[in-house]
Amino acid sequence: MPYVLGVDVGTTRTAAAVCRLGGAGRGEPEVVGLGGPGGGVASTLQLMPDGAFAVGEPGDPRWTATGFGRRVGDSTPVVLGADGVVERFPAEELTALMVMWVADQVAAREGERPAHVVLAHPAGWGAHAKGLAHRALRALGVTASLVPEPVAAAENHAYSRSPVGALGVFSLGSHGFAAAAVGRGFELLGAVEGVDQAAGVDFDDVVFGHVRTSLGRALAELDADDPRTRGLFARLRRDCEAAKRVLSGTVETSIPVHLPSGPVDVPITRAQFEDLIRPDVEQAVSAFARVATGVEMTVLVGGSARIPLIAASVPGRVVLEAAPETSVVKGAALAARRLVIGPDAEPEPTDTSVMVRDDDPLLRFPVGGLEAPDGEFTAPPPRPPVDITPLDLPERRTVKRVVRGLVPTGGRRARDSEDGR
Ligand SMILES: Nc1ncnc2c1ncn2[C@@H]1O[C@H](COP(=O)(O)OP(=O)(O)OP(=O)(O)O)[C@@H](O)[C@H]1O
Ligand SMILES: [Mg+2]
Repeated sequence: MPYVLGVDVGTTRTAAAVCRLGGAGRGEPEVVGLGGPGGGVASTLQLMPDGAFAVGEPGDPRWTATGFGRRVGDSTPVVLGADGVVERFPAEELTALMVMWVADQVAAREGERPAHVVLAHPAGWGAHAKGLAHRALRALGVTASLVPEPVAAAENHAYSRSPVGALGVFSLGSHGFAAAAVGRGFELLGAVEGVDQAAGVDFDDVVFGHVRTSLGRALAELDADDPRTRGLFARLRRDCEAAKRVLSGTVETSIPVHLPSGPVDVPITRAQFEDLIRPDVEQAVSAFARVATGVEMTVLVGGSARIPLIAASVPGRVVLEAAPETSVVKGAALAARRLVIGPDAEPEPTDTSVMVRDDDPLLRFPVGGLEAPDGEFTAPPPRPPVDITPLDLPERRTVKRVVRGLVPTGGRRARDSEDGR
């Protein structure tokens, strides 16, 4: 059955969702499993000795590109290399490669190419970043439209609730914070991205700091050059992130620390965690309040929106989906469907999100005074559905997670000898 594809290349996780264009249903957006955490796949590309990239398998950090999704438009490329061998990749090429890989995975499962692809992008991308992304996608044979993440979130919201007025979008992921107001026609009324604003990884650091403080010298006096210490810290960081997630559902947990003298558990309560992150949350909320004036309702999106303090701090009427880290990618798929079938064919909304706060509407302000920073769709609606050039990919059976398509821009051909890979 024909379908459209939405892709969200987040800093830590890349996600995909499809909307079917035929059949009896409402064309509900469905998140597609990509074999990694939370249904998506880790946003990592590891350059292999043969010049292909392994997707979602971090491996050797010297050869693994991360965080490229938010670096499109940077003049500094992502640099990979070791032992004097250096390869440079512009962030847009790596981002496009992830999109190509996702499109290929989904096409293999669906038995046909998507009728259209929408890539959700950070609200702050201007014409330059979008132009780079379009070119990089085209160079890999992927025809895609670009939609700002808050607009995708609004598309997803409109699928479940009829929009009455402007929608606030409060977005907090692993690295990115964004606040936006989106109009009823899915136009971006205003948006701000937090450069210094704390997000998910910073909250992990907060838990890590709590463990350090609690254990004092027992942790501080470990030999930093001992590989076992490095292993202990790597594991501890993962456990801090896990504890943070647990605290969104329970009021108390503990972090296991595997000290050489024996394992210890460091307790942490939600109240302690909230006290530690409150200044960051307040800063984000005040940035949001400056942008999201006059909004009827606010939707919380991104994995860190699961933290209960967020919903408790954002003013006005606040809605949260069960899996807020999927709101953007589902909205991207819905935007792709809208581009293909047109707005008139849209079904009536059914309610699937949960109102988590319904404050006094006096907290609202009149809309206006905000520049709309280049917020419309950046590619003309494809009608009839576009054909996407078949991708020149190696045998799928043997390269489930490998994607080819980039020619390194500098240095010698990487990875061919010494490290034995
Ligand atoms: N239950 C939870 N409670 C608190 N934080 C959570 C929870 N679940 C996930 N997170 C955090 O959400 C973040 C991931 O969110 P998301 O998938 O939206 O990020 P991303 O799209 O990869 O990154 P970004 O949008 O910042 O580029 C991680 O920091 C993760 O620890
Ligand atoms: Mg994200």
